Amino acid sequence: MALAALGTWVPPRAVGNKDLPAHLETSDEWISQRTGIRSRRIADSGTPASELGIEAAREALTASGTDPGDIGLVICASVSPDQLMPATAARIAAAVGAGNAGAYDVLAGCTGFIYALGAAASSVAAGLAERVLVVGAEVISSILDWEDRSTCVLFGDGAGAAIVAPAEGRGRLLGFDLGNDGTGADLLEVPAGGSRLPASAQTVQQRLHFLRMNGREVYRFATRVVPESAERILAEAGRSVAEVDLFVPHQANQRIIDVAAKKLGIPEDRVLSSLAEYGNTSCASIPISLAHALEQDRLHDGDLVLLTGFGAGLSWGSCLLEWGA
Ligand code: UT7
Repeated sequence: MALAALGTWVPPRAVGNKDLPAHLETSDEWISQRTGIRSRRIADSGTPASELGIEAAREALTASGTDPGDIGLVICASVSPDQLMPATAARIAAAVGAGNAGAYDVLAGCTGFIYALGAAASSVAAGLAERVLVVGAEVISSILDWEDRSTCVLFGDGAGAAIVAPAEGRGRLLGFDLGNDGTGADLLEVPAGGSRLPASAQTVQQRLHFLRMNGREVYRFATRVVPESAERILAEAGRSVAEVDLFVPHQANQRIIDVAAKKLGIPEDRVLSSLAEYGNTSCASIPISLAHALEQDRLHDGDLVLLTGFGAGLSWGSCLLEWGA
């Protein structure tokens, strides 16, 4: 099972820490010291996540030389989908020419891309589809509360895509570790707009359609589950931490990345960070970071690559890849 190609797309508008609205009473110093974020891309108001996903998907299709008509399944991971229904994947599939492919969305917080990759690999292995297009697409700026400095400074918009196919490709998928602890479901959520708390004038007034997070608790959770999940997947694959050539963690906070890498014993030069430039792009953060690694010539044939994500749910997930195999 292989990851045949990658594609990414980010909106052109970069918003640096110093460009954030003055009413937030934040500072470049606070944001960069506490999170490592210096800038993020923000889509124009009214841009749907599918628009970013379509660009990333087209790039992945072209890079792999895949005829869109040969895609049997499109899976989109997003916490800021176009709509509650239909699936964002449906619009992406139609736009890229994979019109008859199955299409559905995955909602697993920022771990969504790893979950979607796992679903894609299993679908190919089970013969459900020959080739699967996996997309992580976010216009997360549309669900941020721009009055809440504790969350809105952390995130950015972007998309990443991958083709999963049985043949040899850019990376051989060696295995997955997926998990979730629903007792932490309230720690990172969009409270209203679903059947639990339907939209009303009151929910709008109370700003309950925006992302809310208990940052400290999510931080604690992330610094615990990221190393645990990484160790589990390595043990299952019979590989050791010392063999990991590149660690690509979900990009939420540089401090989380540093603590996790330190706990695992992975040296700094084997850890990928794209936070400074893009912030937390949720389901797009791992594919964007992988593409970043490729651009920087940090991925070579035979490299063992460890991807680990975490997020709302509270979810976590790891994937082990052998590059160029
Ligand atoms: O993809 C999954 C998403 N998850 C995450 O990104 C969450 C992980 N959590 C974190 O990354 C960190 O907990 C945060 C970056 C969210 C917060 O960092 P922290 O070091 O845990 O800060 P804190 O919440 O303990 O807040 C410290 C202070 C508070 O002020 P007081 O109460 O000490 O006076 C906050 O009000 O920092 C204040 N603060 C800010 N100050 C300036 C919070 N946000 C800001 C801000 N600018 N943007």
